[in-house]
Parts: sequence; C-alpha cells; structure tokens
Amino acid sequence: MTAAGAKISVQGVAKTFQSAAGDAVSALGEVDLDIAPGEFVSIVGPSGCGKSTLLNVLAGFEEPSQGEALMDGRPIRGPGPERGVVFQEYALFPWLTVAGNVAFGPASRGIAADEVAARVRHYVAMVKLDGSERKYPHELSGGMRQRCALARCIANDPDVLLMDEPLAALDALTRLSLQDELLRIWSEASRERPKTVLYITHAIDEAIYLSDRVVVMSERPGRIRRVIEVPFARPRAPEIRTDPRFHALTDEIWLLLRREP
Ligand SMILES: Nc1ncnc2c1ncn2[C@@H]1O[C@H](COP(=O)(O)OP(=O)(O)O)[C@@H](O)[C@H]1O
Ligand SMILES: [Mg+2]
Repeated sequence: MTAAGAKISVQGVAKTFQSAAGDAVSALGEVDLDIAPGEFVSIVGPSGCGKSTLLNVLAGFEEPSQGEALMDGRPIRGPGPERGVVFQEYALFPWLTVAGNVAFGPASRGIAADEVAARVRHYVAMVKLDGSERKYPHELSGGMRQRCALARCIANDPDVLLMDEPLAALDALTRLSLQDELLRIWSEASRERPKTVLYITHAIDEAIYLSDRVVVMSERPGRIRRVIEVPFARPRAPEIRTDPRFHALTDEIWLLLRREP
C-alpha cells in the first residue's frame, strides 16, 4: 500500500517526554505505519513501550517530537470528530445518562435535536443498550459501560476509531463476548462508510481475533518489531480460536514479545 492511499499514515514518528526532574524519557522510538481505509489494525507490545503515546499522537492529544502522523494525507494537528477515541475507562460523563452520553458529541456540534435523538436511538440499539437509556454510568456493568462508550464514540460517525485497551478492565467472559460485539458493531457502522480501527491491547488472542494485521512492538522506546497478517476471513466466529493457525500465530507473537531487544 502506498502512503497516498492510506487512511492513517505514521511517518517516522517518535516521542520524547521531559520528566518533572528535567530528564528526557524516550517513550516511543521511530515508527512507520500505514493503515488502509476500513482496515482493523492492532498493536501489542510490552507495558510502557509507547502504545498509548502513539495512539495519543493519532488522536491529536500529543505532538510527535519527530516525524508526522497523517490522516487522508493531511497532518494531524489536534483532536477532531473524524477520529473517535475509546479508552479503558473514564470515557463516560458520570453526570449524564446513557442517552445523554451518546447525544453529547452530535449535540455539541450543533446537530438538530431530532437528528440527535434519532442517532441516539440508532446507536443505543446497535450496542444493545435499549431499555437502559436513562441509566447513569454507575448503574451499568463494566461491559455495558464500554458498549455505551463505543456508542458515544460512533455517534459522531468518525472515519477512524482509536481504541486504547477498551476491554482490559473487564472479566474474561465479558471480554470474549464484547470482542464479538465489537466486530459486529464495527461491521454495521462501516456499512455506509468504512471505519478504520487502530486497537491497542496487551492480549495476543484478542489482537488476532479482531484484526487484519497485528503490529508487534519492542520494549520502550517502542519500535515495530514485526507486522503480522491475520489470515482468517470475516465475519469471524469463535471457532477460529481452535484453528491450529490461530495457535501458531499466538506462539509467534508471544516469542516476538519475549525476545530481547
Ligand atoms: N506525559 C508523560 N510524561 C512523561 N512520561 C510519559 C508521559 N506519558 C507517557 N510517559 C512515559 O512514556 C512511556 C510510554 O508510555 P505509554 O505510551 O503510556 O506506554 P504503553 O501504553 O505502551 O504502556 C512510559 O515510560 C511512560 O511512563
Ligand atoms: Mg497504554
């Protein structure tokens, strides 16, 4: 793929932070990565290798110290509704209901009230939270909260979804069922226009199950160690977890993560 056709293009991006004591912390090494429109790409890597830093650069929350991140060939200069972000937690406004959270983005961009209400109905149903519209985040289970966060994000109809370990705080069974929900929601939301996903996780099986490609990063300052193509067709079903190729990919990524720099 040429950078020209990429939805997201990361070109020589590196990030160094200044600590409070004045030392430089190299958080992210030089990274080059192109993501095609509609592609689902995961990043796995050791804790602290700069995954969130890279996602924050793409979200426009952080500026790279070096290199450039582009969307549709244009440099990313700050946050924007065309790039939706879902975090592990704290993604919902606790003082707003489910409906209020989902309505927030479209309403704050001046979309007419009846159109906002229609979007709320559409996306709340898509994430199967109908019946819980008037509940507050503290009344929801962890899984319901993350479905609400997803609805809140896609209610802005972003082209790109940036997800930073969105399922990491959930118990194992909820995590598995939400992986399937996420794939279904992504494919439904992509019907009109493809949605490109960059997904960070530390769970190797999750990365394989969800993605078209898995980017494996090295220790901090993280660099791309390898990019692995996932061969399974879509729609994906839980049976692929027992496929020998699934296990072979899991082992391959595991060995890459364990390897010394
Ligand atoms: N705002 C910041 N100031 C200083 N250091 C930071 C800042 N954000 C992240 N870091 C450091 O950069 C490194 C990478 O962090 P992060 O991107 O959060 O890693 P990951 O998400 O892969 O666990 C870590 O050593 C972290 O402590
Ligand atoms: Mg992180």
